[in-house]
Amino acid sequence: MFKRILGYTGTYRKTTYAAVVAMLAGMVAQVLPFWFIYQIIKPVLTHEAMTAEYVIWRIAAIALCTILYAVFYIWGLSLSHNAAYNTLKNLRISLQGKLEKLPLGVIQEKGVGAIKKTFIDDIETIELPLAHAIPEGISNIAVPVLVFLGMFLVDWKMALLALAALPLGALAMGMMYRSGTSKMGDYYASAQKMNRTIVEYINGMEVVKVFNRDGESYHRYERDIKNYRDFTLAWYKVCWPWMAIYNSLVPCVALFVLPVGAYMVMQGVSTLPNFALALCMSFGISAPLLRVMNFWPTIARIDFAVSNLEQMMNEEPLAQSTAVFTGHNHDVCFENVRFSYKDAEVLHNVTLDIPEGSLTALVGESGSGKSTLAKLLVHFYDVTDGAIKIGGQDIRQMSLEALNNQISYVAQEQFLFNISLLENIRLGRPAATDAEVMVAAEKAQCGEFLTRLENGIHTMAGDGGKQLSGGERQRISLARAILKDAPIVVLDEATAFMDPENEEKMNEAIAEVIRGKTVIVIAHRLQSIIHADQICVLDAGNLVAVGSHTALIAGCSTYQRLWQAAEGSAQWKVTTSREGEMI
Ligand SMILES: Nc1ncnc2c1ncn2[C@@H]1O[C@H](COP(=O)(O)OP(=O)(O)OP(=O)(O)O)[C@@H](O)[C@H]1O
Ligand SMILES: [Mg+2]
Repeated sequence: MFKRILGYTGTYRKTTYAAVVAMLAGMVAQVLPFWFIYQIIKPVLTHEAMTAEYVIWRIAAIALCTILYAVFYIWGLSLSHNAAYNTLKNLRISLQGKLEKLPLGVIQEKGVGAIKKTFIDDIETIELPLAHAIPEGISNIAVPVLVFLGMFLVDWKMALLALAALPLGALAMGMMYRSGTSKMGDYYASAQKMNRTIVEYINGMEVVKVFNRDGESYHRYERDIKNYRDFTLAWYKVCWPWMAIYNSLVPCVALFVLPVGAYMVMQGVSTLPNFALALCMSFGISAPLLRVMNFWPTIARIDFAVSNLEQMMNEEPLAQSTAVFTGHNHDVCFENVRFSYKDAEVLHNVTLDIPEGSLTALVGESGSGKSTLAKLLVHFYDVTDGAIKIGGQDIRQMSLEALNNQISYVAQEQFLFNISLLENIRLGRPAATDAEVMVAAEKAQCGEFLTRLENGIHTMAGDGGKQLSGGERQRISLARAILKDAPIVVLDEATAFMDPENEEKMNEAIAEVIRGKTVIVIAHRLQSIIHADQICVLDAGNLVAVGSHTALIAGCSTYQRLWQAAEGSAQWKVTTSREGEMI
Protein backbone atom coordinates (compact mmCIF):
# COMPACT_ATOMS: atom_id res chain seq x y z
CA MET A 1 0.00 0.00 0.00
CA PHE A 2 2.77 2.46 0.92
CA LYS A 3 4.39 1.72 -2.41
CA ARG A 4 1.15 2.63 -4.19
CA ILE A 5 0.91 5.84 -2.20
CA LEU A 6 4.52 6.72 -3.04
CA GLY A 7 3.54 6.18 -6.65
CA TYR A 8 1.17 9.16 -6.40
CA THR A 9 3.92 11.55 -5.35
CA GLY A 10 5.30 11.86 -8.91
CA THR A 11 7.95 14.56 -9.00
CA TYR A 12 7.65 15.02 -5.24
CA ARG A 13 8.95 11.52 -4.51
CA LYS A 14 12.48 12.92 -4.05
CA THR A 15 11.15 15.39 -1.48
CA THR A 16 9.58 12.50 0.43
CA TYR A 17 12.90 10.62 0.38
CA ALA A 18 14.69 13.76 1.60
CA ALA A 19 12.15 13.95 4.44
CA VAL A 20 12.96 10.33 5.35
CA VAL A 21 16.68 11.13 5.49
CA ALA A 22 16.11 14.25 7.61
CA MET A 23 13.90 12.35 10.03
CA LEU A 24 16.42 9.49 10.24
CA ALA A 25 19.08 12.02 11.19
CA GLY A 26 16.68 13.49 13.75
CA MET A 27 16.00 10.07 15.22
CA VAL A 28 19.73 9.29 15.53
CA ALA A 29 20.08 12.60 17.38
CA GLN A 30 17.25 11.57 19.68
CA VAL A 31 18.75 8.18 20.59
CA LEU A 32 22.44 9.24 20.83
CA PRO A 33 22.06 11.00 24.22
CA PHE A 34 21.27 7.62 25.77
CA TRP A 35 24.65 6.40 24.50
CA PHE A 36 26.37 9.41 26.07
CA ILE A 37 24.58 8.76 29.35
CA TYR A 38 25.91 5.22 29.23
CA GLN A 39 29.39 6.61 28.67
CA ILE A 40 29.05 8.72 31.78
CA ILE A 41 27.73 5.80 33.87
CA LYS A 42 30.30 3.26 32.66
CA PRO A 43 33.45 4.70 34.40
CA VAL A 44 31.45 4.93 37.63
CA LEU A 45 30.60 1.26 37.39
CA THR A 46 34.11 0.17 36.48
CA HIS A 47 35.75 2.57 38.98
CA GLU A 48 37.76 4.19 36.23
CA ALA A 49 39.09 7.71 36.69
CA MET A 50 36.88 10.33 35.02
CA THR A 51 37.84 13.97 34.38
CA ALA A 52 35.36 16.84 34.63
CA GLU A 53 36.16 17.60 31.01
CA TYR A 54 35.04 14.08 30.01
CA VAL A 55 31.66 14.63 31.64
CA ILE A 56 31.18 18.18 30.34
CA TRP A 57 31.89 17.13 26.77
CA ARG A 58 29.26 14.44 26.99
CA ILE A 59 26.72 16.75 28.55
CA ALA A 60 27.41 19.27 25.77
CA ALA A 61 26.97 16.50 23.22
CA ILE A 62 23.61 15.60 24.76
CA ALA A 63 22.50 19.24 24.54
CA LEU A 64 23.68 19.46 20.94
CA CYS A 65 21.79 16.26 20.05
CA THR A 66 18.61 17.67 21.52
CA ILE A 67 18.92 20.76 19.35
CA LEU A 68 19.85 18.70 16.28
CA TYR A 69 16.85 16.47 16.86
CA ALA A 70 14.51 19.48 16.86
CA VAL A 71 16.13 20.96 13.76
CA PHE A 72 16.11 17.72 11.73
CA TYR A 73 12.61 16.82 12.84
CA ILE A 74 11.13 20.19 11.84
CA TRP A 75 13.07 20.14 8.58
CA GLY A 76 11.82 16.62 7.82
CA LEU A 77 8.26 17.60 8.67
CA SER A 78 8.33 20.62 6.40
CA LEU A 79 9.73 18.52 3.53
CA SER A 80 7.21 15.75 4.06
CA HIS A 81 4.28 18.17 4.27
CA ASN A 82 5.43 19.94 1.15
CA ALA A 83 5.48 16.62 -0.71
CA ALA A 84 2.18 15.50 0.84
CA TYR A 85 0.10 18.58 0.06
CA ASN A 86 1.48 18.86 -3.45
CA THR A 87 0.59 15.20 -3.97
CA LEU A 88 -2.95 15.84 -2.69
CA LYS A 89 -3.24 18.74 -5.11
CA ASN A 90 -2.06 16.55 -8.02
CA LEU A 91 -4.42 13.76 -7.02
CA ARG A 92 -7.42 16.08 -6.84
CA ILE A 93 -6.61 17.52 -10.24
CA SER A 94 -6.12 14.13 -11.88
CA LEU A 95 -9.29 12.76 -10.27
CA GLN A 96 -11.23 15.72 -11.64
CA GLY A 97 -9.82 14.97 -15.10
CA LYS A 98 -10.91 11.38 -14.64
CA LEU A 99 -14.40 12.37 -13.49
CA GLU A 100 -14.89 14.51 -16.57
CA LYS A 101 -14.33 11.49 -18.79
CA LEU A 102 -16.70 9.18 -16.90
CA PRO A 103 -20.18 8.52 -18.21
CA LEU A 104 -22.72 10.58 -16.25
CA GLY A 105 -24.42 7.35 -15.19
CA VAL A 106 -21.37 6.25 -13.17
CA ILE A 107 -21.27 9.63 -11.42
CA GLN A 108 -25.00 9.63 -10.64
CA GLU A 109 -24.83 6.09 -9.32
CA LYS A 110 -22.09 6.99 -6.85
CA GLY A 111 -23.94 10.05 -5.59
CA VAL A 112 -22.62 13.53 -4.85
CA GLY A 113 -21.96 12.73 -1.18
CA ALA A 114 -19.78 9.71 -1.92
CA ILE A 115 -17.86 11.56 -4.63
CA LYS A 116 -17.34 14.49 -2.28
CA LYS A 117 -16.00 12.05 0.30
CA THR A 118 -13.50 10.63 -2.19
CA PHE A 119 -12.38 14.07 -3.34
CA ILE A 120 -12.05 15.54 0.12
CA ASP A 121 -11.74 12.89 2.82
CA ASP A 122 -10.16 9.92 1.01
CA ILE A 123 -7.53 12.06 -0.65
CA GLU A 124 -6.91 13.83 2.66
CA THR A 125 -6.16 10.52 4.41
CA ILE A 126 -3.12 10.16 2.15
CA GLU A 127 -1.60 13.15 3.94
CA LEU A 128 -1.03 11.01 7.02
CA PRO A 129 1.18 8.36 5.37
CA LEU A 130 3.05 10.84 3.21
CA ALA A 131 3.62 13.54 5.79
CA HIS A 132 4.02 11.28 8.84
CA ALA A 133 3.69 7.50 8.64
CA ILE A 134 6.26 6.93 5.88
CA PRO A 135 9.07 9.31 6.94
CA GLU A 136 8.47 9.07 10.70
CA GLY A 137 7.58 5.39 10.59
CA ILE A 138 10.75 4.46 8.69
CA SER A 139 13.01 6.44 11.03
CA ASN A 140 11.17 5.28 14.15
CA ILE A 141 11.73 1.66 13.15
CA ALA A 142 15.13 1.94 11.47
CA VAL A 143 16.96 3.58 14.38
CA PRO A 144 15.80 1.07 17.03
CA VAL A 145 16.81 -1.73 14.64
CA LEU A 146 20.28 -0.20 14.28
CA VAL A 147 20.55 0.17 18.04
CA PHE A 148 19.64 -3.49 18.50
CA LEU A 149 22.24 -4.55 15.96
CA GLY A 150 24.90 -2.49 17.76
CA MET A 151 23.93 -3.98 21.08
CA PHE A 152 23.96 -7.43 19.55
CA LEU A 153 27.61 -6.98 18.60
CA VAL A 154 28.49 -5.81 22.10
CA ASP A 155 26.52 -8.38 24.07
CA TRP A 156 24.07 -10.57 22.22
CA LYS A 157 22.47 -11.95 25.38
CA MET A 158 21.65 -8.51 26.73
CA ALA A 159 20.41 -7.46 23.26
CA LEU A 160 18.01 -10.39 23.12
CA LEU A 161 16.83 -9.53 26.60
CA ALA A 162 16.06 -5.96 25.54
CA LEU A 163 14.00 -7.44 22.69
CA ALA A 164 11.97 -9.61 25.05
CA ALA A 165 8.96 -7.31 25.35
CA LEU A 166 8.70 -6.73 21.64
CA PRO A 167 7.11 -10.00 20.46
CA LEU A 168 4.25 -9.33 22.86
CA GLY A 169 3.97 -5.77 21.54
CA ALA A 170 4.01 -7.01 17.95
CA LEU A 171 1.33 -9.55 18.81
CA ALA A 172 -0.88 -6.78 20.26
CA MET A 173 -0.30 -4.70 17.14
CA GLY A 174 -1.17 -7.61 14.84
CA MET A 175 -4.33 -8.40 16.77
CA MET A 176 -5.42 -4.79 16.62
CA TYR A 177 -4.84 -4.62 12.90
CA ARG A 178 -6.80 -7.81 12.33
CA SER A 179 -9.79 -6.91 14.45
CA GLY A 180 -9.71 -3.30 13.21
CA THR A 181 -9.79 -4.43 9.58
CA SER A 182 -12.79 -6.68 10.19
CA LYS A 183 -14.82 -3.64 11.31
CA MET A 184 -13.34 -1.23 8.82
CA GLY A 185 -15.64 -2.20 5.94
CA ASP A 186 -18.77 -1.35 7.93
CA TYR A 187 -17.22 1.81 9.29
CA TYR A 188 -16.21 3.00 5.86
CA ALA A 189 -19.50 2.13 4.16
CA SER A 190 -21.46 3.90 6.91
CA ALA A 191 -19.31 7.04 6.52
CA GLN A 192 -19.97 7.05 2.78
CA LYS A 193 -23.67 6.52 3.28
CA MET A 194 -23.90 9.31 5.84
CA ASN A 195 -22.19 11.68 3.43
CA ARG A 196 -24.58 10.76 0.65
CA THR A 197 -27.64 11.14 2.85
CA ILE A 198 -26.61 14.52 4.26
CA VAL A 199 -25.94 15.93 0.79
CA GLU A 200 -29.22 14.52 -0.52
CA TYR A 201 -31.12 15.89 2.48
CA ILE A 202 -29.75 19.39 2.01
CA ASN A 203 -30.27 19.32 -1.76
CA GLY A 204 -33.84 18.17 -1.27
CA MET A 205 -34.60 20.73 1.44
CA GLU A 206 -37.24 22.36 -0.76
CA VAL A 207 -39.18 19.10 -1.02
CA VAL A 208 -38.59 18.24 2.62
CA LYS A 209 -40.02 21.57 3.78
CA VAL A 210 -43.13 21.31 1.64
CA PHE A 211 -44.06 17.64 1.86
CA ASN A 212 -42.11 15.77 4.35
CA ARG A 213 -41.24 17.70 7.44
CA ASP A 214 -40.68 14.72 9.69
CA GLY A 215 -41.09 11.89 7.27
CA GLU A 216 -38.92 9.25 5.67
CA SER A 217 -36.07 11.51 4.55
CA TYR A 218 -35.45 12.75 8.08
CA HIS A 219 -35.61 9.22 9.49
CA ARG A 220 -33.07 8.13 6.91
CA TYR A 221 -30.87 11.07 7.86
CA GLU A 222 -31.10 10.21 11.54
CA ARG A 223 -30.57 6.48 10.93
CA ASP A 224 -27.45 6.95 8.80
CA ILE A 225 -25.90 9.34 11.31
CA LYS A 226 -26.58 6.90 14.15
CA ASN A 227 -25.18 4.03 12.09
CA TYR A 228 -21.99 5.98 11.54
CA ARG A 229 -21.67 6.56 15.29
CA ASP A 230 -22.31 2.87 16.02
CA PHE A 231 -19.85 1.53 13.44
CA THR A 232 -17.17 3.99 14.48
CA LEU A 233 -17.55 3.05 18.12
CA ALA A 234 -17.58 -0.65 17.22
CA TRP A 235 -14.29 -0.16 15.40
CA TYR A 236 -12.70 1.70 18.30
CA LYS A 237 -14.01 -0.87 20.75
CA VAL A 238 -12.15 -3.76 19.10
CA CYS A 239 -8.99 -1.67 18.67
CA TRP A 240 -8.73 -0.01 22.06
CA PRO A 241 -7.81 -3.05 24.22
CA TRP A 242 -4.91 -3.97 21.93
CA MET A 243 -3.78 -0.39 21.76
CA ALA A 244 -3.76 -0.25 25.56
CA ILE A 245 -1.76 -3.50 25.80
CA TYR A 246 0.85 -2.24 23.36
CA ASN A 247 1.08 1.14 25.01
CA SER A 248 1.73 -0.40 28.37
CA LEU A 249 4.07 -3.15 27.12
CA VAL A 250 6.52 -1.19 25.04
CA PRO A 251 7.67 1.28 27.70
CA CYS A 252 8.30 -1.82 29.84
CA VAL A 253 11.26 -2.86 27.68
CA ALA A 254 13.48 -1.75 30.57
CA LEU A 255 11.39 -3.62 33.10
CA PHE A 256 12.37 -6.94 31.50
CA VAL A 257 16.00 -5.94 31.24
CA LEU A 258 16.26 -4.82 34.86
CA PRO A 259 15.63 -8.02 36.90
CA VAL A 260 16.83 -10.57 34.35
CA GLY A 261 19.87 -8.45 33.41
CA ALA A 262 20.84 -8.02 37.06
CA TYR A 263 20.59 -11.78 37.56
CA MET A 264 22.77 -12.38 34.49
CA VAL A 265 25.43 -10.00 35.84
CA MET A 266 25.38 -11.75 39.21
CA GLN A 267 25.79 -15.10 37.51
CA GLY A 268 28.70 -13.73 35.48
CA VAL A 269 26.93 -14.26 32.15
CA SER A 270 27.19 -10.54 31.42
CA THR A 271 29.03 -7.51 32.75
CA LEU A 272 27.81 -4.51 34.68
CA PRO A 273 28.66 -1.97 31.91
CA ASN A 274 26.80 -4.06 29.30
CA PHE A 275 23.87 -4.23 31.66
CA ALA A 276 23.91 -0.43 31.94
CA LEU A 277 24.18 -0.13 28.17
CA ALA A 278 21.17 -2.39 27.66
CA LEU A 279 19.15 -0.36 30.16
CA CYS A 280 20.05 2.99 28.61
CA MET A 281 19.35 1.88 25.07
CA SER A 282 16.08 0.24 26.07
CA PHE A 283 14.90 3.58 27.41
CA GLY A 284 16.17 5.27 24.27
CA ILE A 285 14.23 3.17 21.80
CA SER A 286 10.90 2.87 23.59
CA ALA A 287 9.82 6.40 22.58
CA PRO A 288 10.27 5.82 18.81
CA LEU A 289 8.61 2.41 19.05
CA LEU A 290 5.62 3.97 20.79
CA ARG A 291 5.32 6.56 18.06
CA VAL A 292 5.16 3.83 15.40
CA MET A 293 2.14 2.59 17.24
CA ASN A 294 0.29 5.85 16.67
CA PHE A 295 0.30 5.18 12.94
CA TRP A 296 -0.68 1.57 13.14
CA PRO A 297 -4.46 1.88 13.68
CA THR A 298 -4.72 4.25 10.73
CA ILE A 299 -3.16 1.83 8.24
CA ALA A 300 -6.41 -0.07 7.68
CA ARG A 301 -8.29 3.22 7.23
CA ILE A 302 -5.74 4.50 4.73
CA ASP A 303 -5.88 1.19 2.88
CA PHE A 304 -9.65 1.54 2.49
CA ALA A 305 -9.44 5.14 1.37
CA VAL A 306 -6.73 4.34 -1.18
CA SER A 307 -8.70 1.36 -2.54
CA ASN A 308 -11.77 3.55 -2.85
CA LEU A 309 -9.79 6.25 -4.60
CA GLU A 310 -8.28 3.71 -6.99
CA GLN A 311 -11.66 2.23 -7.72
CA MET A 312 -12.79 5.63 -8.96
CA MET A 313 -9.52 6.14 -10.84
CA ASN A 314 -10.01 2.77 -12.56
CA GLU A 315 -13.64 3.25 -13.63
CA GLU A 316 -14.14 2.59 -17.31
CA PRO A 317 -14.07 6.00 -19.03
CA LEU A 318 -16.21 6.98 -22.01
CA ALA A 319 -14.99 5.59 -25.31
CA GLN A 320 -13.18 8.48 -26.94
CA SER A 321 -10.00 9.27 -28.76
CA THR A 322 -7.73 12.28 -28.88
CA ALA A 323 -8.52 12.91 -32.55
CA VAL A 324 -9.75 16.26 -33.77
CA PHE A 325 -13.01 16.72 -35.66
CA THR A 326 -12.57 15.63 -39.27
CA GLY A 327 -16.22 15.30 -40.32
CA HIS A 328 -16.86 16.53 -43.86
CA ASN A 329 -19.98 18.46 -42.79
CA HIS A 330 -22.37 18.67 -39.83
CA ASP A 331 -24.90 16.01 -40.77
CA VAL A 332 -25.89 14.12 -37.61
CA CYS A 333 -26.64 10.40 -37.98
CA PHE A 334 -27.99 8.02 -35.38
CA GLU A 335 -27.36 4.49 -36.68
CA ASN A 336 -29.23 1.62 -34.99
CA VAL A 337 -28.75 3.23 -31.60
CA ARG A 338 -29.67 1.20 -28.55
CA PHE A 339 -29.21 2.45 -25.02
CA SER A 340 -29.88 1.35 -21.44
CA TYR A 341 -29.11 3.40 -18.34
CA LYS A 342 -29.03 0.22 -16.28
CA ASP A 343 -30.78 -3.01 -17.24
CA ALA A 344 -33.88 -1.79 -19.05
CA GLU A 345 -33.34 -0.56 -22.60
CA VAL A 346 -34.78 2.96 -23.08
CA LEU A 347 -33.90 3.48 -26.77
CA HIS A 348 -34.53 0.67 -29.22
CA ASN A 349 -32.71 0.65 -32.52
CA VAL A 350 -33.11 4.33 -33.38
CA THR A 351 -31.93 5.31 -36.87
CA LEU A 352 -32.20 8.96 -37.79
CA ASP A 353 -30.57 11.31 -40.30
CA ILE A 354 -30.39 15.01 -39.51
CA PRO A 355 -29.06 16.95 -42.51
CA GLU A 356 -26.77 19.93 -42.02
CA GLY A 357 -28.62 23.22 -41.69
CA SER A 358 -32.00 21.64 -41.01
CA LEU A 359 -34.34 22.05 -38.06
CA THR A 360 -35.34 18.73 -36.55
CA ALA A 361 -37.84 18.44 -33.72
CA LEU A 362 -38.05 15.48 -31.37
CA VAL A 363 -41.49 14.96 -29.89
CA GLY A 364 -43.00 12.26 -27.74
CA GLU A 365 -44.61 11.64 -24.40
CA SER A 366 -42.75 12.22 -21.18
CA GLY A 367 -40.23 9.41 -20.70
CA SER A 368 -40.19 8.43 -24.39
CA GLY A 369 -36.42 9.02 -24.60
CA LYS A 370 -36.05 12.49 -26.14
CA SER A 371 -33.58 13.88 -23.62
CA THR A 372 -31.69 10.59 -23.63
CA LEU A 373 -31.16 10.87 -27.38
CA ALA A 374 -29.79 14.39 -26.92
CA LYS A 375 -27.48 13.30 -24.07
CA LEU A 376 -26.10 10.48 -26.23
CA LEU A 377 -25.31 12.97 -29.00
CA VAL A 378 -23.32 15.16 -26.60
CA HIS A 379 -21.60 11.99 -25.35
CA PHE A 380 -22.70 12.07 -21.71
CA TYR A 381 -23.07 8.30 -22.12
CA ASP A 382 -21.80 5.68 -24.54
CA VAL A 383 -24.40 4.04 -26.74
CA THR A 384 -25.01 0.41 -25.79
CA ASP A 385 -25.13 -0.54 -29.46
CA GLY A 386 -25.00 1.26 -32.82
CA ALA A 387 -23.23 4.54 -33.53
CA ILE A 388 -23.67 8.30 -33.64
CA LYS A 389 -21.80 10.16 -36.35
CA ILE A 390 -21.23 13.81 -37.22
CA GLY A 391 -20.23 14.45 -40.80
CA GLY A 392 -19.42 10.74 -41.06
CA GLN A 393 -17.09 10.68 -38.02
CA ASP A 394 -18.13 8.52 -35.07
CA ILE A 395 -18.29 10.68 -31.92
CA ARG A 396 -16.22 7.99 -30.16
CA GLN A 397 -13.47 8.66 -32.67
CA MET A 398 -13.00 12.25 -31.53
CA SER A 399 -12.01 13.91 -28.27
CA LEU A 400 -14.71 15.30 -25.99
CA GLU A 401 -13.26 18.72 -26.63
CA ALA A 402 -13.53 18.31 -30.41
CA LEU A 403 -17.14 17.18 -30.00
CA ASN A 404 -17.89 20.06 -27.62
CA ASN A 405 -16.65 22.54 -30.18
CA GLN A 406 -19.24 21.26 -32.65
CA ILE A 407 -22.27 21.32 -30.36
CA SER A 408 -24.08 23.80 -28.16
CA TYR A 409 -26.29 21.87 -25.79
CA VAL A 410 -28.97 23.65 -23.82
CA ALA A 411 -30.19 21.10 -21.31
CA GLN A 412 -33.69 20.65 -19.93
CA GLU A 413 -32.53 21.40 -16.39
CA GLN A 414 -30.29 24.40 -16.18
CA PHE A 415 -27.33 24.58 -13.91
CA LEU A 416 -25.59 27.86 -13.24
CA PHE A 417 -22.37 28.12 -11.24
CA ASN A 418 -22.31 30.46 -8.28
CA ILE A 419 -20.28 33.03 -10.15
CA SER A 420 -21.60 36.20 -11.76
CA LEU A 421 -24.14 35.86 -14.58
CA LEU A 422 -21.57 37.45 -16.87
CA GLU A 423 -19.06 34.68 -16.09
CA ASN A 424 -21.78 32.06 -16.41
CA ILE A 425 -22.49 33.22 -19.95
CA ARG A 426 -18.78 33.51 -20.74
CA LEU A 427 -18.44 29.75 -20.11
CA GLY A 428 -19.83 29.42 -23.65
CA ARG A 429 -16.61 30.94 -25.01
CA PRO A 430 -14.01 31.71 -22.34
CA ALA A 431 -12.06 34.03 -24.64
CA ALA A 432 -15.08 36.31 -25.23
CA THR A 433 -14.83 39.96 -24.14
CA ASP A 434 -17.31 41.57 -21.73
CA ALA A 435 -18.89 43.42 -24.65
CA GLU A 436 -19.43 40.18 -26.58
CA VAL A 437 -21.03 38.61 -23.51
CA MET A 438 -23.38 41.62 -23.21
CA VAL A 439 -24.41 41.31 -26.84
CA ALA A 440 -25.16 37.59 -26.39
CA ALA A 441 -27.19 38.33 -23.25
CA GLU A 442 -29.18 40.94 -25.14
CA LYS A 443 -29.85 38.55 -28.04
CA ALA A 444 -30.99 35.88 -25.56
CA GLN A 445 -33.60 38.33 -24.19
CA CYS A 446 -31.87 38.60 -20.82
CA GLY A 447 -31.73 42.42 -20.97
CA GLU A 448 -35.05 43.05 -19.28
CA PHE A 449 -34.48 40.93 -16.19
CA LEU A 450 -30.82 41.91 -15.91
CA THR A 451 -31.77 45.59 -15.56
CA ARG A 452 -34.15 44.62 -12.77
CA LEU A 453 -31.29 43.05 -10.76
CA GLU A 454 -29.40 45.43 -8.49
CA ASN A 455 -25.98 44.42 -9.83
CA GLY A 456 -27.23 43.61 -13.32
CA ILE A 457 -25.10 41.08 -15.17
CA HIS A 458 -22.60 41.08 -12.28
CA THR A 459 -25.14 39.50 -9.91
CA MET A 460 -24.05 36.18 -8.47
CA ALA A 461 -26.14 33.28 -9.74
CA GLY A 462 -26.53 31.60 -6.33
CA ASP A 463 -26.00 27.89 -5.70
CA GLY A 464 -26.88 26.15 -8.96
CA GLY A 465 -28.49 29.38 -10.18
CA LYS A 466 -31.18 29.42 -7.51
CA GLN A 467 -31.41 33.23 -7.51
CA LEU A 468 -33.13 33.11 -10.90
CA SER A 469 -36.42 31.75 -12.16
CA GLY A 470 -36.46 28.72 -14.47
CA GLY A 471 -37.15 30.88 -17.51
CA GLU A 472 -34.36 33.29 -16.62
CA ARG A 473 -31.94 30.44 -16.12
CA GLN A 474 -32.83 29.00 -19.51
CA ARG A 475 -32.24 32.35 -21.18
CA ILE A 476 -28.83 32.66 -19.53
CA SER A 477 -27.90 29.29 -20.97
CA LEU A 478 -29.26 30.32 -24.37
CA ALA A 479 -26.93 33.32 -24.13
CA ARG A 480 -24.10 30.83 -23.47
CA ALA A 481 -25.07 28.97 -26.64
CA ILE A 482 -25.28 32.18 -28.69
CA LEU A 483 -21.80 33.15 -27.50
CA LYS A 484 -20.43 29.69 -28.27
CA ASP A 485 -21.81 29.82 -31.80
CA ALA A 486 -21.26 26.10 -32.49
CA PRO A 487 -22.53 24.68 -35.82
CA ILE A 488 -24.92 22.19 -34.15
CA VAL A 489 -27.47 23.27 -31.57
CA VAL A 490 -29.29 20.84 -29.30
CA LEU A 491 -32.12 22.43 -27.39
CA ASP A 492 -33.98 20.52 -24.72
CA GLU A 493 -36.91 22.78 -23.91
CA ALA A 494 -37.87 23.12 -20.29
CA THR A 495 -41.54 22.64 -19.50
CA ALA A 496 -41.52 24.66 -16.31
CA PHE A 497 -42.25 28.11 -17.66
CA MET A 498 -45.28 28.40 -19.84
CA ASP A 499 -46.56 31.92 -19.23
CA PRO A 500 -47.18 33.65 -22.57
CA GLU A 501 -44.81 36.55 -21.97
CA ASN A 502 -41.93 34.27 -21.14
CA GLU A 503 -42.78 32.00 -24.03
CA GLU A 504 -42.61 34.84 -26.49
CA LYS A 505 -39.23 35.94 -25.18
CA MET A 506 -37.99 32.36 -25.30
CA ASN A 507 -39.06 32.00 -28.92
CA GLU A 508 -37.17 35.15 -29.86
CA ALA A 509 -34.09 33.93 -27.99
CA ILE A 510 -34.31 30.52 -29.60
CA ALA A 511 -34.66 32.04 -33.07
CA GLU A 512 -31.40 33.84 -32.41
CA VAL A 513 -29.58 30.67 -31.29
CA ILE A 514 -30.64 28.49 -34.19
CA ARG A 515 -30.09 30.92 -37.04
CA GLY A 516 -28.14 29.11 -39.78
CA LYS A 517 -27.37 26.04 -37.67
CA THR A 518 -28.08 22.33 -37.66
CA VAL A 519 -30.71 22.25 -34.97
CA ILE A 520 -32.26 19.52 -32.88
CA VAL A 521 -35.01 20.83 -30.68
CA ILE A 522 -36.88 18.78 -28.14
CA ALA A 523 -40.25 20.41 -28.08
CA HIS A 524 -42.95 20.19 -25.48
CA ARG A 525 -45.01 22.92 -27.15
CA LEU A 526 -45.89 21.38 -30.48
CA GLN A 527 -47.28 24.64 -31.84
CA SER A 528 -43.75 26.07 -31.90
CA ILE A 529 -42.31 23.41 -34.20
CA ILE A 530 -44.95 22.91 -36.89
CA HIS A 531 -42.60 24.53 -39.42
CA ALA A 532 -39.67 22.25 -38.59
CA ASP A 533 -38.01 20.51 -41.57
CA GLN A 534 -38.66 17.18 -39.95
CA ILE A 535 -40.47 16.07 -36.85
CA CYS A 536 -39.39 12.79 -35.23
CA VAL A 537 -41.95 11.02 -33.09
CA LEU A 538 -40.65 8.88 -30.23
CA ASP A 539 -42.85 6.42 -28.43
CA ALA A 540 -41.44 4.44 -25.49
CA GLY A 541 -37.93 4.48 -26.94
CA ASN A 542 -38.96 3.66 -30.53
CA LEU A 543 -38.72 6.13 -33.37
CA VAL A 544 -42.19 5.59 -34.82
CA ALA A 545 -42.36 8.26 -37.51
CA VAL A 546 -40.41 11.04 -39.20
CA GLY A 547 -42.03 13.67 -41.39
CA SER A 548 -43.49 17.14 -41.72
CA HIS A 549 -46.33 18.36 -39.50
CA THR A 550 -48.92 17.89 -42.21
CA ALA A 551 -47.71 14.41 -43.13
CA LEU A 552 -47.68 13.29 -39.50
CA ILE A 553 -51.11 14.75 -38.72
CA ALA A 554 -52.38 12.76 -41.65
CA GLY A 555 -50.58 9.47 -40.99
CA CYS A 556 -49.19 9.03 -37.46
CA SER A 557 -51.56 8.14 -34.66
CA THR A 558 -49.01 8.87 -31.89
CA TYR A 559 -48.47 12.36 -33.33
CA GLN A 560 -52.20 12.91 -33.66
CA ARG A 561 -52.62 12.06 -30.00
CA LEU A 562 -49.80 14.42 -28.99
CA TRP A 563 -51.25 17.17 -31.14
CA GLN A 564 -54.70 16.76 -29.67
CA ALA A 565 -53.23 16.96 -26.16
CA ALA A 566 -51.25 20.09 -27.14
CA GLU A 567 -54.37 21.73 -28.62
CA GLY A 568 -56.27 20.78 -25.47
CA SER A 569 -53.71 22.45 -23.22
CA ALA A 570 -53.66 25.56 -25.43
CA GLN A 571 -57.46 25.65 -25.16
CA TRP A 572 -57.19 25.21 -21.42
CA LYS A 573 -54.78 28.12 -21.16
CA VAL A 574 -57.13 30.39 -23.14
CA THR A 575 -60.09 29.45 -20.94
CA THR A 576 -58.27 30.12 -17.70
CA SER A 577 -57.02 33.51 -18.91
CA ARG A 578 -60.60 34.45 -19.95
CA GLU A 579 -61.81 33.43 -16.52
CA GLY A 580 -59.08 35.61 -15.10
CA GLU A 581 -60.35 38.58 -17.10
CA MET A 582 -63.86 38.14 -15.81
CA ILE A 583 -62.93 38.21 -12.14
N1 LIG B 1 -30.28 8.83 -15.24
C1 LIG B 1 -31.20 7.90 -15.52
N2 LIG B 1 -31.10 6.66 -14.98
C2 LIG B 1 -32.00 5.72 -15.25
N3 LIG B 1 -33.06 5.88 -16.05
C3 LIG B 1 -33.24 7.09 -16.62
C4 LIG B 1 -32.33 8.16 -16.38
N4 LIG B 1 -32.75 9.24 -17.07
C5 LIG B 1 -33.87 8.86 -17.72
N5 LIG B 1 -34.18 7.57 -17.46
C6 LIG B 1 -35.31 6.80 -18.01
O1 LIG B 1 -35.15 6.77 -19.41
C7 LIG B 1 -36.40 6.97 -20.06
C8 LIG B 1 -36.31 8.14 -21.02
O2 LIG B 1 -36.07 9.32 -20.30
P1 LIG B 1 -35.89 10.73 -20.98
O3 LIG B 1 -35.40 11.68 -19.95
O4 LIG B 1 -35.06 10.57 -22.20
O5 LIG B 1 -37.38 11.10 -21.39
P2 LIG B 1 -37.95 12.40 -22.11
O6 LIG B 1 -38.58 11.93 -23.35
O7 LIG B 1 -36.89 13.43 -22.22
O8 LIG B 1 -39.06 12.87 -21.06
P3 LIG B 1 -39.55 14.38 -20.69
O9 LIG B 1 -40.44 14.81 -21.79
O10 LIG B 1 -40.30 14.18 -19.43
O11 LIG B 1 -38.36 15.21 -20.53
C9 LIG B 1 -37.42 7.16 -18.96
O12 LIG B 1 -38.08 5.94 -18.77
C10 LIG B 1 -36.61 7.50 -17.74
O13 LIG B 1 -37.23 6.98 -16.60
MG1 LIG C 1 -36.57 15.23 -21.27
